[in-house]
Amino acid sequence: MKLLVTGGAGFIGGNFVHYMLKQHPGLRLVNLDLLTYAGNLETVGSAESNADYSFVRGDIADRDFIFSLFEREQFDWVVNFAAETHVDRSIVDPGAFVRTNVVGTQVLLDAAKTFGVKRFHQVSTDEVYGDLPLDRPDLFFTEKTPLSASSPYSASKAGADLLVLSYFRTFRLPVTISRCSNNYGPYQFPEKLIPLILSRALADQEVPVYGTGENVRDWLHVEDHCRGIDRILHNGREGEVYNIGGHNEKTNLDVVKTVLAALGKPETLIRFVSDRPGHDRRYAIDPAKIGRELDWRPEICFEDGIARTVQWYLENRGWWEKILSGEYRNYFDTMYGEKLG
Ligand code: NAD
Ligand code: DAU
Repeated sequence: MKLLVTGGAGFIGGNFVHYMLKQHPGLRLVNLDLLTYAGNLETVGSAESNADYSFVRGDIADRDFIFSLFEREQFDWVVNFAAETHVDRSIVDPGAFVRTNVVGTQVLLDAAKTFGVKRFHQVSTDEVYGDLPLDRPDLFFTEKTPLSASSPYSASKAGADLLVLSYFRTFRLPVTISRCSNNYGPYQFPEKLIPLILSRALADQEVPVYGTGENVRDWLHVEDHCRGIDRILHNGREGEVYNIGGHNEKTNLDVVKTVLAALGKPETLIRFVSDRPGHDRRYAIDPAKIGRELDWRPEICFEDGIARTVQWYLENRGWWEKILSGEYRNYFDTMYGEKLG
């Protein structure tokens, strides 16, 4: 069995590479990543010693490259994590999001169709559903909630989802989609809320909270997300969408205060700054379908997960300090310079 993981040098893709190699000995895994600013090969450095693992640098939107890779490797499964993922960046430069998230996904779908891939799994997001009001805690996103994206990022992910479902209906390509809530855990790039607060608070710098900090996110530990995708890959029904989330809603201000408390840093570091344009108010996943059909439920509660995450960032300062200094970008040359030229 040969699996292509795209975006495996990023946060969730990197965790998924480690998870799959550990859970499925003998599975051959190719990690394809362009190594944009968000890709860091050090995240998967320890996988290099595994003979079943290999890394390829490339762009999912580069059709010639992707087709020759698929022809050579004859993948059984594809899991597509590769994406531009930061909402704030999509507000500054939407074009990069359309190219990678929409065009890149379509190129992968074409290659999967041409070379007979047995399962194409698209890693999507709860953001495709738009947002929920703060004063209706009874409302949740289900797989039937209409797509209603707010940002260029979520619009590009919604576009990709529609393409994936169209390849199922039109070409019978065996696809599945997962739509997950906000992830946290090791190896998250320090532009996203939790690692941003951690890295800044440890340097006694102010931590920026958008607007009033009342926006709500539904947090899930990345390992629970990886287990959910694995289960969909093995047992999910073709053509189906599965929401993944853990009923773990927190306001941004609560998250920031929790992290500051775990670090022993004062709340006076909190700085309320101008709001994100179009800022989604609340995300909340109903994970009943994946629970019912695939017996998946979260195993890591937020209190444990956040304590483990804080500990990981404290013990792995080198990983994120090299990102802040830009030094991580030399890793590819050091690791692969001679091998790949
Ligand atoms: P990330 O930004 O940490 O990683 C993205 C990876 O994709 C990077 O390694 C980057 O180099 C790579 N990449 C970008 N453009 C590429 C291209 N054109 N070709 C090949 N590789 C490319 O992202 P993440 O947070 O790990 O998210 C992974 C996936 O999960 C995304 O599809 C995202 O939409 C989805 N998702 C994320 C979350 C979350 O909370 N982070 C939640 C739900 C869904
Ligand atoms: O819900 C899943 C999505 O979660 C994924 O699809 C995205 O790829 C991922 O980036 C994440 O999107 P968010 O916009 O929710 O994540 P972010 O970490 O950027 O922000 C979390 C919340 O914190 C959000 O309400 C904005 C707020 N925020 C963020 C930053 C970076 C702040 O208040 N201050 C900040 O500095």
